[in-house]
Amino acid sequence: MYPIPDISSPAKIIDSHAHYNDKRFEGIIDELMKKQRELGVKRIINCGCDLESIDACLRLSERYDLCYTAVGFHPETLPEGDIDTNKLRTLAASDKVCAIGEIGLDYYWRQDNKEAQKKAFCDQLRLAADLGLPAIMHDREAHGDTLDIIREYRPKGVLHCFSGCREMAEEVVSLGLYIGIGGVLTFKNAKKLIEVAKSVPIEKILLETDAPYLAPEPIRGKLNHSALIIYVAEKLAEIRGMTVEEVINITTENSEKLFSL
Ligand code: NI
Repeated sequence: MYPIPDISSPAKIIDSHAHYNDKRFEGIIDELMKKQRELGVKRIINCGCDLESIDACLRLSERYDLCYTAVGFHPETLPEGDIDTNKLRTLAASDKVCAIGEIGLDYYWRQDNKEAQKKAFCDQLRLAADLGLPAIMHDREAHGDTLDIIREYRPKGVLHCFSGCREMAEEVVSLGLYIGIGGVLTFKNAKKLIEVAKSVPIEKILLETDAPYLAPEPIRGKLNHSALIIYVAEKLAEIRGMTVEEVINITTENSEKLFSL
């Protein structure tokens, strides 16, 4: 049904980016959430992408103690016209909302609405600053414009599923942001991300799944879930010459600090 890591995890994992509202979790979510606790998962942040998924994520955080929610309009599913930041502000007032996200730029899926994407991104960064919340940011094939906006707005937050080069990571960190790292780190073609994971301070790295997507090796391609972060932590520990426990402890502290958990 879903893969279980074959190592016992003493860890207290925080999954800083997931989408448990996804259809692929229907029917197994109760059991899976119960299992996360047993497998050492402490908290999970589900990221909304539009009004419908935000609502679903909020219901998850009401139902499951370990779930928290980020509210935002994702660039891939941006509505036509201006986004409703007032509605977002209302939704962000919910108890377990800990971030504005996921927001950002995606030029892989759409290049025909770059200006609209940039405007929605900036509007939501202003809202995040106004509410004192961190931003969970998405950047796919839009590094230049993402950097320009980050330099201008100086948000606090994380660039999730980081896909830039080492130089970009170093600049992003120098601007105060965190780097989100998930299953991609374990993939065979992860050379660039391994360079990033080696060079940025461990205090600036957050672990994430992007579940149900991006399951790490050795279960790549299967249904991803938060406990499988242990494989990412193992890889990061190997790269940095640390123990898995150290990696989990520090990255968990990083998430707790950024999201005030
Ligand atoms: Ni995502």
